Amino acid sequence: MVHMSESPKHSFIGMFDSGAGGISVLRACVAELPHEHFRYFGDSAHAPYGDQGEERIRELSTEHATRFVNEGAKAIVIACNTATSAAAQHLRESFADVPIIGIEPALKPAALAGGRILVLATEATVRLEKYHVLAAKYGAEDMTTVACSGLVELIEAGNLDDPAIEAYLQEKIGHLRGQVDNVVLGCTHYPFIKKQITAVLGDVAFFDGAQGTAQHLRRRLEEFDLLAPEEQTGSIEFSSSIPAQVSLYQKLLDMT
Ligand code: DGL
Repeated sequence: MVHMSESPKHSFIGMFDSGAGGISVLRACVAELPHEHFRYFGDSAHAPYGDQGEERIRELSTEHATRFVNEGAKAIVIACNTATSAAAQHLRESFADVPIIGIEPALKPAALAGGRILVLATEATVRLEKYHVLAAKYGAEDMTTVACSGLVELIEAGNLDDPAIEAYLQEKIGHLRGQVDNVVLGCTHYPFIKKQITAVLGDVAFFDGAQGTAQHLRRRLEEFDLLAPEEQTGSIEFSSSIPAQVSLYQKLLDMT
């Protein structure tokens, strides 16, 4: 339980995503910062964000961030590439005193690794300017970018063994088998289906922004002198705009 009278170091980090995807980021953050209290909100009722307009995604993101700030969050992690593209700048302007950490497709490490790159992300992420700036920086001409509308719904349905996931990938990216070395998972839902992507593409290396986001969160907490003391026992609280989805969040967190 967080008491407002305690030092802000003891307060919690608010994280949100359109649903279960941000659990891949939460997992990395908990490993990096085991003494922190995390509150995770999945907006499964409004998923997918990736098929919605920029303004609507910004509106939903502002709602979640405002609630966390009002509850006393010491930092906010936007555990969603789509919401980061649409809303991070706006949230940083709205809440200048609170560190706001976003996530973006991990093009940099994929480009540094060398080889042919495939970027998978949502429709909104690849449409918005932020992605075009990033891709130009890391050699857009050498990358194949595929927007995966419909994939998040299959993952949110909670059965990762559903053959429909592999069938979807087969249709979408099956023709790229043998032509890709590095796959950038540019949506936080996708790290949960690496096995299915490998089945379709063959042996590839994966890159996602979770680890980088966790390290960035640590640096920001240090800068703001907000790191939880080492004697604090960390905790995780889940909530969702579809409360029944919380069991999926827990299941994904426990997945190795
Ligand atoms: N998990 C999100 C992302 O990282 C968005 C998925 C969606 O709702 O479209 O982009």
